[in-house]
Order: sequence, then structure tokens, then C-alpha cells
Amino acid sequence: MLENKRILLGVTGGIAVYKAADFASQLSKAGAQVHVIMTASATEFISPLVFSSLTGNEVATSMFATPEKPDISHIRLAEKADLVIIAPATANIIAKLAAGIADDVLTSTILATTAPVIIAPSMHHNMYTNAITQENIKKLKSRGFSFIEPETGRLASGDIGIGRLPAPEKLLAAVEQALGEKGDLAGRKIIVTAGGTREPIDPVRCITNRSSGKMGYALAEAARNRGAKVTLITAAGLPEPVGMKVVAVNTAEEMKKAVAKAVAGCDALIMAAAVADFRPKTAAAQKIKKGRGGLKLDLVATPDILAETKGNFIRVGFAAESDNLLANARKKLAAKQLDIIVANDITDKASTFGSDSNKVTIISRTGKEENLPLLSKREVADKILDRVVSLMGGKNAREDGNVPFQIELLDSHINASYIPLKGYRDSFPNLGGKVSLMTTDGDVVETVVKSYGLQGKALKPWYKRNGLHPRDWIVIRAGPLGNYVLDVLKKKAEAKNNLEIVSQREAKSLLK
Ligand code: CTP
Repeated sequence: MLENKRILLGVTGGIAVYKAADFASQLSKAGAQVHVIMTASATEFISPLVFSSLTGNEVATSMFATPEKPDISHIRLAEKADLVIIAPATANIIAKLAAGIADDVLTSTILATTAPVIIAPSMHHNMYTNAITQENIKKLKSRGFSFIEPETGRLASGDIGIGRLPAPEKLLAAVEQALGEKGDLAGRKIIVTAGGTREPIDPVRCITNRSSGKMGYALAEAARNRGAKVTLITAAGLPEPVGMKVVAVNTAEEMKKAVAKAVAGCDALIMAAAVADFRPKTAAAQKIKKGRGGLKLDLVATPDILAETKGNFIRVGFAAESDNLLANARKKLAAKQLDIIVANDITDKASTFGSDSNKVTIISRTGKEENLPLLSKREVADKILDRVVSLMGGKNAREDGNVPFQIELLDSHINASYIPLKGYRDSFPNLGGKVSLMTTDGDVVETVVKSYGLQGKALKPWYKRNGLHPRDWIVIRAGPLGNYVLDVLKKKAEAKNNLEIVSQREAKSLLK
């Protein structure tokens, strides 16, 4: 996602400049065009040559462009930047920016840029917690600057306190997140679960599985980078990703509670966790002694979180299978009434537990199946999110969203309360399952998918209320969040116009 993005890295004079060099290198490796601006005191700590060698670009240290270096004048740099990040940022630069001072190339560039600016403070903890610095930070935040909170640890002075520059990986994640703020998941709330749950046998032993959690973390990070507000509910012990809410759990029961709490108002639940299907009926309070002979465990089923968590959001499941991959995955899609299932063959060496790559088939409720080649887990995550976006509808819909089905009603349909689905059956693959149709007057009509169409008692009153007769037309559109919206078109001749109005209305609301 950093490919060809122009990132301005401002470096000020603090001991953490060595981390800024690593950060510049990571930005370049990720495909960004990195332009470094150093303050005079930063050049006391490290030579500009380090940054120009790492980024392949001239480093700006002076206010004034020369005929040989016309591209590093502060106005040029400011205009061309997609994002500016200052790391490390001293108390001095923060104070100058808060006061609007522009007395060197870095402060002048920041005053001139319209790009988002991220500031990563790093200083002695007494300077950081000083009320003046805190007031300056508050002021800059109110002006739209973003801050990366420094970490607590051993400082250059030898003291322990807050003020350490976070690791380059964390700075990189903050850049990716900021660039993704206007992504196709902007404003969406996504819940991702990850890792294998641990069901206690006694205080030291547990039942778990070989899931590493990497797929779930990749999904959470990819969703964050596309602008989503992410909650990651994890049973894996991987390093905590930045820019999201992380809830650590152990057992299936704890995960279920955390999911139930998080899904309120969410747009999608992606269950990448490998939830243990069984747990010991009771966990021993004391460590079980080896003794002689074996040990019998009485196991009981854990809750099926995905099957039990329903609501007005997209539900994505994983099917890790060792045999009959697609058939088993399709069964789970129907049984748990999912929108998407990601089938992955765990016998395949390249995509087994703990690896960084995965080979999956993505199946959605519309019947579309996408057999992907071996990809990195991050690439797989983006493919899954593409599918989520398309099911959400909206301006990014690419697959089955917003395709209106026009249906002509006959006497028999009205009398028997059903909607014929000839030609559109593929859009309702969950035979025997339920589909809610939201009517444009705000009601929800529950129907069941039958082989001949959608059957629902509540259709008859809806037909009546809208004065529908044989030969009238209705329309079903895939609405936001993958729900179906039912609307009246009346006669086919009127229908065309009406449909246009509906589409325009929809377009307007999507452009908001
Ligand atoms: N899942 C869940 N709660 C469980 C078990 C599974 O929410 N107790 C979710 C998983 O996160 C996954 C999907 O359901 O997204 C399918 O998980 P899987 O273990 O493949 O299926 P099961 O329903 O457990 O069936 P089986 O183990 O018999 O294959």
C-alpha cells in the first residue's frame, strides 16, 4: 500500500535518530518514495548521508534550494507529500509547530503542507510530561496533527520513564493506517478473532490447537489499513498490532463474551480464530499429579460462537479442513448461515499452521467461488476484505451488490405468498435458510429460500399494503451490509423510471 507514496520523514535531534534510519529503510523497502528533512541538531547525531543512502533521495537540511537541488525546497516538498511523519520529534519541534514558527526547512515544510502529519515524540520523561509540552501536544491535536504515544522504558539518561520512540514497525503501521483512512472500509467497524483458544485442564495444562493467529492478525491489520475501526479479539500471543482495540482472551467462553460485547453496531465479524470445540468439564484447581496410569478427561462442547452470533452484519467464517475441503466448507456456509466462508486445506504444507502464506478458496453466499493461488496471509486478507466490501454494497461494490432483480408477479405468487426467483436462484444459495428483505417503507419481511423462490407469510400483507396485482413488478436489490431490499416497481413501463430514481437515490446516499 506504500507503493509510490511520497512520504516526508522529518528527523529532529534526539538519541532515537538511529531508529529513524531503520524506519526510513523500512519505508523504502515497502515501496514508498522517502524524502528526509533533518534539523541542524539532527545532523549532529547522524550524517544526512545515512538517510540519502537508505532512501536514494537527497536529504533536505537547508531552507534554500540550490539550482542543483531544486526539488528539495520546502514548498516543493510540502506540495508533493502524501504524508509527513516526524520521528523522533523533540519537545522543541513540538513547541515550534504549536506556535506556528517556521525558521528552518522542517518547520516551514510542515506549515506549508496540506498532507496529514504524524508526530512521534521522543524525549526525557520530565520534558514529555511537562505541562507546556502536553499543552502544545493538545493544541496540535486539536489542529488535526496525529501523535504516536512514546513508550515507557529506559531513556538515554538512564532513567526509566515515558519517552522512548516506538519500534520502526510500529511507526510503519501508523503510516499505513493514516494513508488508509480514506480506504474502502473507512467508517466501518470490523471485529476479527484470531488464534486457538486454550481450555484449562488444570492451572498449568490446557487443550488447544496449532493455530498461530497469523491469519487473524493479517486480517485485522489489512482492515485497519483500509480505514476500518478494528477490534481484534485474540487468543494468540503475537505482538500487539497498533491502531486497533485488542482484547486478549483464553477460552472459547471468554471469546464468546468478548465477541458478543464487540459486535454491537459492527459491520462485519470475521471469525479467523480456531475455537476449541471441546473443553474439560471442570478445570482442576490444583495441578494434577502424574500418579500411575493414564488420565481420563471428561470433555464437553464449547459454544459455537459464529453460529450463535447473529445480527445485521456480515459474518465470515473459516473452514480449516483435512478432507472434502469444498463440500465441508459449503456445508458450514449453509449451516452457520454465513455470508462468506474461507476454505483452507490444512494438509497443504505451504499453507499449514504457523506459516506466513495460505492457499484458500473464498466462497460467498451468492455461490461465487474464488480459488486463490498460494499467497501471503496479508494478500489473502485483502482478498477476503475485497469480498466483504463487495457484499457491503456501496460505492466499492464489485461483486453482487446493487444488482436489482426485477420480478413480475403472477396470481399464484400473490396467493401463495412467495417471490419467484427464476434466474436469480444463485443469489440465494442457502436453500432452506432465511433471508430478510428490508422493504423501502422500513419493514423487514422474513422469507425462507425454497427451490422455487422465496416463501414468507409476511409477503401477503406486504403485497396487499402496496396494492400489488398480477402483472405488477417488484424489485430486489442487494442493499448495504448484504441485506436485500424489497421495493415495488408496479408496471414494467413505470418500472424503468422508478428504478433509475432508486439508483440515483442510492448513489446520493453512497456519495455522502
Ligand atoms: N467456530 C466458532 N465456534 C466454535 C467452533 C468454530 O465460532 N466453537 C467458527 C470458527 O472460528 C470458524 C468456523 O466456525 O470461522 C468454522 O470452524 P471449524 O472449526 O472449521 O468448524 P466447526 O463448526 O468447529 O466444525 P468441525 O470442527 O466439525 O469441522
